[in-house]
Amino acid sequence: MTTAQPLDVQPTPLALLLLGREADPKSERGVECPGDLPSPSDPDLVERARAAKEKLGDKVFVLGHHYQRDEVIQFADVTGDSFKLARDAAAKPEAEYIVFCGVHFMAESADILTTDDQKVVLPDLAAGCSMADMATAEQVAECWDVLTEAGVAEQVVPVSYMNSSADIKAFTGKHGGTICTSSNAKRALDWAFEQGEKVLFLPDQHLGRNTAVRDMGLSLDDCVLYNPHKPNGGLTVEELRNAKMILWRGHCSVHGRFSLDSVNDVRERIPGVNVLVHPECKHEVVAAADYVGSTEYIINTLDAAPAGSKWAIGTELNLVRRVANAHPDKEIVFLDKTVCFCSTMNRIDLPHLVWTLESLAEGNLVNQIRVDEETESFAKLALERMLALP
Ligand code: 13P
Ligand code: SF4
Repeated sequence: MTTAQPLDVQPTPLALLLLGREADPKSERGVECPGDLPSPSDPDLVERARAAKEKLGDKVFVLGHHYQRDEVIQFADVTGDSFKLARDAAAKPEAEYIVFCGVHFMAESADILTTDDQKVVLPDLAAGCSMADMATAEQVAECWDVLTEAGVAEQVVPVSYMNSSADIKAFTGKHGGTICTSSNAKRALDWAFEQGEKVLFLPDQHLGRNTAVRDMGLSLDDCVLYNPHKPNGGLTVEELRNAKMILWRGHCSVHGRFSLDSVNDVRERIPGVNVLVHPECKHEVVAAADYVGSTEYIINTLDAAPAGSKWAIGTELNLVRRVANAHPDKEIVFLDKTVCFCSTMNRIDLPHLVWTLESLAEGNLVNQIRVDEETESFAKLALERMLALP
């Protein structure tokens, strides 16, 4: 009988304080956190967070993405994937403060979808996303020029993954496109192909390719890869004219680590294992997996799985560990042999949350995420198209 890979690798108790320091403030990776943070070794952190949250009462609503640490998730009023959290944020107009335990692009989306009176707060401004950073407004504007010069822009509908900056969402809204998440990417592509003949999919090439090929029946040859670091994206006019899916060359550094070898190894190690992966994984990993879906889908599938079943999961480790702990009757292992946290998600730790909640409770608004009016109006168009998808 095979035994599960131990899931006993503990996240560092220390905040990852150096990461993102003095980074480009325009980047999703953000800037350093200005706060006077409590020490991570303070034994009263849990009590302090509880007391500050209680003091704030209904004024605060805490959202927690599934990749957040357990120490943070315990204080979330709701947990979810990025789609669910966007909807949850929009459905809470009475909360003055939305504390978003997730990453920068999620907090921006929450700001766009909430009322002008509500303040969205990100406990650490350096909690960005390397994938979102892979498509800047300038690069995407240049890409649109390339598509225009190739004579295809009019046939193209942009579809941008939620994991993108507000600027990219605004570009998408302006050009008649929609946002998608990993839970509704197929519906978004179905909608986009009703509006036009081609899709420009930003910024995650893998989610775009996997959805097009696995869920929509397109071929790999229907997809081309636009590389923003090459002249004309590294594509000829003919390639652009023949393509149905123009995939932006971006990826998630966390999910990008899973390989076909990880899948083959686990199948050898655990006979009868079900391989369940997130669609941000590479195409060959998704093609070799048994099940593919968003974080919400992964949780629901494992909740519904029979006792005694065996699972290898290809997504972020905080989530895998939490579901494994919740289901001791099932064998749930991490797909890769190496530890695979999202380092920017992990920046939101208990000291940052305590500092945020205590500051708000004292009347000091910290780390507010605000999208400017013009960007917001176009980005909202794109987000609302997503929320209206059938
Ligand atoms: P979902 O929350 O849409 O599953 O996306 C995963 C992710 O990478 C979030 O950053
Ligand atoms: Fe970005 Fe990947 Fe981290 Fe999600 S898991 S925030 S896509 S780097």
